[in-house]
Amino acid sequence: MLSCQKQLFSLPDNVHYLNCAYMSPLLRRVEQAGIEGLRRKRLPAGIAPEDFFRESDHARALFGRLVNAEPARIAIIPAASYGLATAARNTPLSRGRSIVLAHDQYPSNVYIWQRLAREAGAEVRTVIPPDAPGRGAAWNARLLDAIDARTAVVALGNVHWADGTRFDLERIGAHAREVGAALVVDGTQSVGALPFDVARVQPDALVCAAYKWLLGPYSIGLAYFGPRYDAGIPLEETWLARVHSEDFRRLVEYEDEYRAGAVRYDVGERSNFIVLPMLIAALEQVLEWAPARIQEYCRALSAELLEEARALGYRVEEEAWRGAHLFGVRTPPGLDLERLQRLLAEQNVIASLRGSALRVSPHVYNDRQDIEALLDVLRGALETGRRPGA
Ligand SMILES: Cc1ncc(COP(=O)(O)O)c(C=O)c1O
Repeated sequence: MLSCQKQLFSLPDNVHYLNCAYMSPLLRRVEQAGIEGLRRKRLPAGIAPEDFFRESDHARALFGRLVNAEPARIAIIPAASYGLATAARNTPLSRGRSIVLAHDQYPSNVYIWQRLAREAGAEVRTVIPPDAPGRGAAWNARLLDAIDARTAVVALGNVHWADGTRFDLERIGAHAREVGAALVVDGTQSVGALPFDVARVQPDALVCAAYKWLLGPYSIGLAYFGPRYDAGIPLEETWLARVHSEDFRRLVEYEDEYRAGAVRYDVGERSNFIVLPMLIAALEQVLEWAPARIQEYCRALSAELLEEARALGYRVEEEAWRGAHLFGVRTPPGLDLERLQRLLAEQNVIASLRGSALRVSPHVYNDRQDIEALLDVLRGALETGRRPGA
């Protein structure tokens, strides 16, 4: 079992940061890598042509280890929206076909499918959860039901970004394969903190922004692309993705051929000398901790919180159907959300209100004091927080 890792970050003691789903705090070693990266450009003679490839390939290898995939199948992307647009660009769609999404997904995994559907005359089928006990299991069952012979793509996360509901991607993926549909996974809110195995889920694409659970900087991400996308067309034509691009003397001997695997889907200037070393340092740390142990840490840390929150009248999804690192605490009817928000601010508890649920997303830098502070807020919100007559 991991112990609290707060000493590896620069978090102040009086702030209870329970919001990794918004953005992870910076590891000291990641900050250091960024500073060193920044300084490298003081004298560019120290940046060699092979540096344009070595660090990128190192990042691919680390992410490949994290999700159990070949490094050559990993592309370096600037944002989740870019990876998802790449998948959409290469997923044929025709009139009458459907794209299956979960209700209220993050916009990066919605807008692109809406556009694709509009252009092709296809339908976006958004699967809504029931508002009843057993919500997680029933939502998963509804998703399975929505996938049929007309389905061309199923695009969703491993957990829902707003309340942590878990989607059984192995089952959903198996059903998508039966009907020949592509499975496109937005792993931004799970990969790094929840184990993900490409060999088991068999997604066609797995796309992750790095600034949350991969503990990386903003404006970079990683994506796995499976064999379905081997011969696809990238969103842009970066010269770095062509064979022989490492020979800087011969760059104008233009090449038609891409490097093997998913490298063609890399963003231009992917060899960012500040951001990439930061991402590498972050991935090394995540691999050292291991997602299974991060889940275990978060589960143990939040067990008492969840028990007491339930006893107070808050609702939380069953453990089997939510992440331990990301979960929604639904407020009892009539609770004054503005008061809850005010108490959070007063106690320096940082968590996000999403609709009427408080999204709590702990990590290994959180400790019992953070949980106690949140519990104080949840208790305090009930004390005089109910509107008269509610
Ligand atoms: C599920 C999910 N995907 C993606 C993102 C970020 O998307 P992008 O990298 O396109 O800005 C977020 C941010 O909150 C998210 O929650």
